[in-house]
Amino acid sequence: MKHSYILPVAFCVVFLTLSLLVQARHHHSHKKHKHSHSHSHKSYETSPPQPPPLHDDYYNNNASGIFDVRSFGAIGDGIEDDTESFKMAWDTACQNGSDVNVILVPQGFSFVIQSTIFTGPCQGDLIFKVDGTVLAPDGPESWPKNNSRRQWLVFYRMKGMSLEGSGSIDGRGQKWWDLPCKPHKGSNGTALGTCDSPIAIRFFMSSNLTVKGLKVKNSPQFNFRFDACNNVHIESIYITAPKISPNTDGIHLEYANDVKIYNSVISNGDDCVSIGTGSYDVDIKNITCGPSHGISIGSLGNHNTKACVSNITVRDSIIKMSDNGIRIKTWQGGSGSVSGVTFNNIHMISVRNPIIIDQYYCLTKDCTNKTSAVSVSNILYTNIKGTYDIKSPPMHFACSDSVPCTNITLSEIELLPSQGDIVHDPFCWNAYGDLETLTIPPVSCLLEGIPQSLLDYDIGHC
Ligand SMILES: *[C@@H]1O[C@H](CO)[C@@H](O)[C@H](O)[C@H]1NC(C)=O
Ligand SMILES: *[C@@H]1O[C@H](CO)[C@@H](O)[C@H](O)[C@H]1NC(C)=O
Ligand SMILES: *[C@@H]1O[C@H](CO)[C@@H](O)[C@H](O)[C@H]1NC(C)=O
Ligand SMILES: *[C@@H]1O[C@H](CO)[C@@H](O)[C@H](O)[C@H]1NC(C)=O
Ligand SMILES: *[C@@H]1O[C@H](CO)[C@@H](O)[C@H](O)[C@H]1NC(C)=O
Ligand SMILES: *[C@@H]1O[C@H](CO)[C@@H](O)[C@H](O)[C@H]1NC(C)=O
Ligand SMILES: *[C@@H]1O[C@H](CO)[C@@H](O)[C@H](O)[C@H]1NC(C)=O
Ligand SMILES: *[C@@H]1O[C@H](CO)[C@@H](O)[C@H](O)[C@H]1NC(C)=O
Ligand SMILES: *[C@@H]1O[C@H](CO)[C@@H](O)[C@H](O)[C@H]1NC(C)=O
Repeated sequence: MKHSYILPVAFCVVFLTLSLLVQARHHHSHKKHKHSHSHSHKSYETSPPQPPPLHDDYYNNNASGIFDVRSFGAIGDGIEDDTESFKMAWDTACQNGSDVNVILVPQGFSFVIQSTIFTGPCQGDLIFKVDGTVLAPDGPESWPKNNSRRQWLVFYRMKGMSLEGSGSIDGRGQKWWDLPCKPHKGSNGTALGTCDSPIAIRFFMSSNLTVKGLKVKNSPQFNFRFDACNNVHIESIYITAPKISPNTDGIHLEYANDVKIYNSVISNGDDCVSIGTGSYDVDIKNITCGPSHGISIGSLGNHNTKACVSNITVRDSIIKMSDNGIRIKTWQGGSGSVSGVTFNNIHMISVRNPIIIDQYYCLTKDCTNKTSAVSVSNILYTNIKGTYDIKSPPMHFACSDSVPCTNITLSEIELLPSQGDIVHDPFCWNAYGDLETLTIPPVSCLLEGIPQSLLDYDIGHC
């Protein structure tokens, strides 16, 4: 994440996931209506077989309304602007008193939608079911002048919502990536200037969210951003953007907590997942990531800000052909901490910098060293295996002079060069920690104990 705008932390209440809620309701209504395939098996023997449910149970549930965008006038020919119909469908579904309301974007149609803020809270839970295609306007020229250029589809103040379906959401990012202010094709992908480009899907100040099954492609900028959200479950999604598309992070979190990202496949031009400040209790599991810039915590502490990130797990995942593997990046001059991070069972395939902590993160050449930094502590790397791109060392711990990294634990690390037999030595600078097992390549540069300087350093409490 390169240019975030800071938003106020919302007051968010911790809620159950929508899926749990919907399930609970289905079980409840199954008992009443005997629609269940799992619960009242007996009823099938004693009563005539029910017609199979249409897609999902909520279509048969009398507590659900289904609002097909076409019944609000949407055309879906891939050309016509269907924004107003989507807004009407939203308002109608959101105001309906049923327990669950479904907005249906039907299969076989492509709907062009302008930048829109879909606002809650709604009366009941809302399912935005995309079985067809939702298209962004085709690049900056087609983007209405009076629309925000920082975001496309925004879900705001939602409590209990699922964005799901078998369809796709296409940000048509090419013309944004080609803007002259972006790094050109073939460069490192390190955008220096900022030039606004929309985030495809943003959830803001929301809770009890599920995102499931969708394909999201070619976002002009981040594919997903969750800020000031809690209780988020992302499941089985596919995100694609070209390797050279700038800033197309797959999923960005900021002030997001209780987040689960499972069973998803991401390839793009920036981080697969980037975890920004204020995020905690994040569990990432079974992600296939790459080509990309890997999975990152940070960047944190830019412009001397305080950043707090804790209790993050990344496990059972594959990172391939990526510029980084698992990365923690902080700017000089920040404060706060990153603490309690576990990277477990990650398979690397030809990854540059598979394991990296960079407390000197900088996008320009003129970053000066400062006397404060976001501290990095209690980081466990276990069972990290595979191959690295020999352009850089497989392990790189560049910790701050004033605030060393502490309690880095390495266990079962086996990283081999992807070509040839040039073995790079791991790099450490001011990194304190232990080896639980021998590693390949061997690490001898971690320092033991607790650094003297840290004893007098006032770590910004998180
Ligand atoms: C969110 O989950 C909580 C349980 O943690 C539940 O009480 C609440 O009803 C849910 N809210 C919505 C809007 O679904
Ligand atoms: C929904 O189902 C319940 C229980 O079968 C019934 O009492 C109620 O009248 C139904 N509501 C509608 C709107 O059909
Ligand atoms: C809610 O939606 C259902 C199903 O479309 C409809 O029958 C009902 O009239 C709606 N209720 C309100 C208050 O709009
Ligand atoms: C932008 O302008 C169009 C046409 O003048 C208008 O219909 C639309 O509501 C405006 N949108 C916003 C977000 O102001
Ligand atoms: C690409 O990276 C190299 C070295 O890492 C650097 O010298 C060069 O300026 C970078 N190019 C861009 C466009 O950022
Ligand atoms: C991991 O995720 C992939 C992609 O969604 C899925 O096909 C696979 O079944 C998942 N594996 C497990 C063990 O859940
Ligand atoms: C860490 O986060 C997980 C969810 O990913 C949660 O179950 C666990 O309770 C959290 N641990 C602490 C110490 O808060
Ligand atoms: C900052 O500190 C690091 C570590 O001491 C050093 O390698 C680097 O050259 C310094 N950078 C500047 C700009 O002084
Ligand atoms: C070191 O980090 C591990 C997690 O990697 C944690 O369980 C342990 O308590 C930490 N030790 C200290 C002394 O903080």
